[in-house]
Amino acid sequence: MKTVIFYYSRTRKTAKVAKTLAEEIKVDSIEIVDLKDRMGVINYLTSTIDALRENKTTIKPNEFDLTEYGLVYIGTPTWAAKPAPAIITMIDMCDLRGKDVIPFTTMGSSGSEKVIERMKEKIEARGGRTVNSLAVKTGGLEMDNIYTETKRILEEMDPEIYGIQEK
Ligand SMILES: Cc1cc2nc3c(=O)[nH]c(=O)nc-3n(C[C@H](O)[C@H](O)[C@H](O)COP(=O)(O)O)c2cc1C
Repeated sequence: MKTVIFYYSRTRKTAKVAKTLAEEIKVDSIEIVDLKDRMGVINYLTSTIDALRENKTTIKPNEFDLTEYGLVYIGTPTWAAKPAPAIITMIDMCDLRGKDVIPFTTMGSSGSEKVIERMKEKIEARGGRTVNSLAVKTGGLEMDNIYTETKRILEEMDPEIYGIQEK
């Protein structure tokens, strides 16, 4: 079965990790867009509150047919040690029964363990099985360094053991 990578990214760092992963395992990545404006100081505060409360948001795409996929990567930035609302919303829309899932997160400095733990709970509640996870610390890193750091982590993780792409 096929593999897919879904991700949400406010400032392109999680996107960089998702694209690096996509290049490494040669699969498609699909961006989830949050239709709520998350830019600027005020929106940073409301985003923090939304994340802490696990408030849902409006996302694009707004339906997910995972029938053809056996392995699903789901990536989010760390917001207040929680997954971003777009990803909480997305997971709750998915039927993950029988799917292997690998959640991943980026963070400025800390909170990734809590994010992965919460995603794991949400994934299992939708019938999925979390088979691994990854976290990339982005604080102080340029995009090129995020690429290099992701490559380093992937080398340790050896993602090919979770399934080779069958086209
Ligand atoms: C609302 C908000 C809350 C955040 N909370 C945390 C946090 O709790 N811990 C942390 O290390 N970084 C935190 N960050 C920083 C992001 O996790 C980090 O910059 C991430 O790599 C951004 O990914 P993106 O570019 O894909 O949006 C926060 C950022 C935002 C916008």
